[in-house]
Amino acid sequence: MDASFTKNILTMNKKILLILLALSMSSFHQVAAQKINDDNTAIESKIDALLQQMTLEEKIGQMTLYTSDWDVTGPTMRSGYRKDIEAGKVGAIFNAYSVDYVRELQSIAVENTRLKIPLMFGYDVIHGHRTIFPMPLAQAATWNMEAIEHSERIAATEATAEGLNWTFTPMVDVARDPRWGRIMEGAGEDTYLTSRIAVARVKGFQGDNLAADNTMVACAKHYAAYGAALAGRDYNTVDVSDRVLRETYLPPFKACVDAGVGTFMTSFNEVDGIPATGNEYLLREILKKEWDFDGFVVTDYTSIAEMVPHGIVADNKEAGELAVNAGVDMDMQSGIFNDYLAQSVKEGKVKISDIDDAVRRILRIKMMLGLFDDPYKYCDKQRQDTLIYHPEHLAFARAFAAESMILLKNQNQTLPLSKQTSTIAVIGPLADSKKDMIGAWSAAGDFNKSVTVLEGIKAKLPTQRVVFARGCEVDGDDRSGFDEAVTLARRSDAVVLVIGETKEMSGEAASRSEITVPGVQQQLAEALIATGKPVVVVLMNGRPLDLSWLDAHAPAILEAWFPGTQAGHAVADVLFGDYNPSGKLTVSFPRNLGQVPIFYNNKNTGRPMSADKYTSKYLDVANTPLYPFGYGLSYTTFQYDNLKISSPTLTNNQKIEVSVEVTNTGKMAGHEVVQLYVRDLVGSVTRPVKELKDFRKIYLEPGAQSVVTFGITPATLRFLTRDMQWAAEPGEFEVFVGTDSGTTQSVRFSYSP
Ligand code: NOJ
Repeated sequence: MDASFTKNILTMNKKILLILLALSMSSFHQVAAQKINDDNTAIESKIDALLQQMTLEEKIGQMTLYTSDWDVTGPTMRSGYRKDIEAGKVGAIFNAYSVDYVRELQSIAVENTRLKIPLMFGYDVIHGHRTIFPMPLAQAATWNMEAIEHSERIAATEATAEGLNWTFTPMVDVARDPRWGRIMEGAGEDTYLTSRIAVARVKGFQGDNLAADNTMVACAKHYAAYGAALAGRDYNTVDVSDRVLRETYLPPFKACVDAGVGTFMTSFNEVDGIPATGNEYLLREILKKEWDFDGFVVTDYTSIAEMVPHGIVADNKEAGELAVNAGVDMDMQSGIFNDYLAQSVKEGKVKISDIDDAVRRILRIKMMLGLFDDPYKYCDKQRQDTLIYHPEHLAFARAFAAESMILLKNQNQTLPLSKQTSTIAVIGPLADSKKDMIGAWSAAGDFNKSVTVLEGIKAKLPTQRVVFARGCEVDGDDRSGFDEAVTLARRSDAVVLVIGETKEMSGEAASRSEITVPGVQQQLAEALIATGKPVVVVLMNGRPLDLSWLDAHAPAILEAWFPGTQAGHAVADVLFGDYNPSGKLTVSFPRNLGQVPIFYNNKNTGRPMSADKYTSKYLDVANTPLYPFGYGLSYTTFQYDNLKISSPTLTNNQKIEVSVEVTNTGKMAGHEVVQLYVRDLVGSVTRPVKELKDFRKIYLEPGAQSVVTFGITPATLRFLTRDMQWAAEPGEFEVFVGTDSGTTQSVRFSYSP
């Protein structure tokens, strides 16, 4: 590597860092969350007055959300939603955006209905609105809360410029089964990290003032435990103990409430035999009572009607009653409230006070959004024309995507590639597939605007030095393109092989029973690796895959996920070292499907694995994953020394500090995510072998050193004790600090209150 090459890399790394810093400090970056119920006496009296004027039917109308015919995100579609709006039977519309369309629908509500109550407009703005960012699981791999928050700020800026004021984000379902297609939508397997990211997302969308014209209300979903679907099959039964529910699955939702999230969405699954949409324990007891949530609860798509096939009610009318009685405030798409709720109230099966409470919650959010002051406030053509695909949004999308990629393997420094390489063969079915770059749940994203890897590489090198062959399709068994691919590889100095899944293979209703690289793509890799040329595998996929063969044979593997609109540029930035990869996995990659579910914070068991036969292990595979939670390589190396603790004993209301020296021992500047894990050695109930408690992302020039210090207080040690109280128990603890969850550098201390 020549000196100017190294210098360019350093400049680029700095540039990207500066973009991130500048953006995180820019004027539209908000920090403090607005609590739903803060200082809103004026709002509450307005609601009182409005409620008094409303008929039962008008109240029920507010409790109803219908999709438009603009986009399809579920199994049913109603014709005639315009008529429903005019009849006062709709409180909110989803899947409708653009200034003209929203204005048209809003005008029906505020000009043609008796009470002129404005509609809310919801949409799945999941990883960007028009400018698409990496899929959420990839974003999590940045471990960069400011960047994640900022991406949502941009998403909100673009979405509100097109009439939207409600996003069905964040998805905060902890997920530990890669078969489940929706694992791509969350933050991975860890509860603490998922909670931190959830807060960043809520803050990004809602800012500190919901009434601003560039903020919108967020929705914590899918409440609850949707990620625990048996065998990773979407919508499947969930069976978790109350302890696991409260300790693993609920904390990210609680974090959203604390961050001031305005709405919640119920999940499709059952929890302890009762569908979440009819689950009083989840909705009334925990969410509304224990957590004092003042926003409103919407169901997932037709999930009220789905309680009939669940077998918990006999018909739709009963389903509506169960939902409202359990604490649902708004029905997404089934139309059951409009059809039956008035009758149910008349029969005394549903209390009018529950209807009033639901409507109050919905009106509260509408008022906080400022819709009663100006129902067209999100319909500003000039904002739409100037903010969509704004160059700053695209620049951030590129830097953020580069930051989300994970270097899984880099034997003999195969990467970064030199820009002097005379010929590069770019091969694979995903190398030039615009459609796939933006991934699932990319909503309003236009894939025609996405940059492919081939285009990204061609933007770095003179075009005549880049050759391309598809090789095969993602799926199927056609090998007829292998020969051309192998011939090109033989003629080139390096091969970039872009393989993985299509975007339709993950997301909702996209579970897989295998987690192998689909079709004959691995065989294509085998043929290319057999040429002896350096083959860099770039993966695009929405879930952890079984990479055992590739790990054993490919010299370099870059996990690029689905990187979004700027995909190809970001991949090229990483491949050529203009960005030094810093992503870290937030989900374990198993060695094979048989290990699933596998996650780092497991329990020790009474027979922890050893050489003895009668211990907890497999005959045919190790207990460890192929790549653990927290794992990710860099083009440089980081050394950890001198792990120290400020005191061997933590007493009550006190803080002890754990510090470690981290040194960049390589030749390139880079980021490292320093991770802190704690193990509670003896508890009133068994505790995981390690739990993430904190992390710090640092940037070090070559040779530079930083002392990273973490504070530990009794709050760090809290868990659900045997009597189901959140508390820290006295005793011995082990603290691990390192580069991933496999780290063994540790110190001990005792907690003695
Ligand atoms: C069903 C999905 O489960 C949910 O996440 C989404 O927000 C709704 N459909 C609306 O599209």
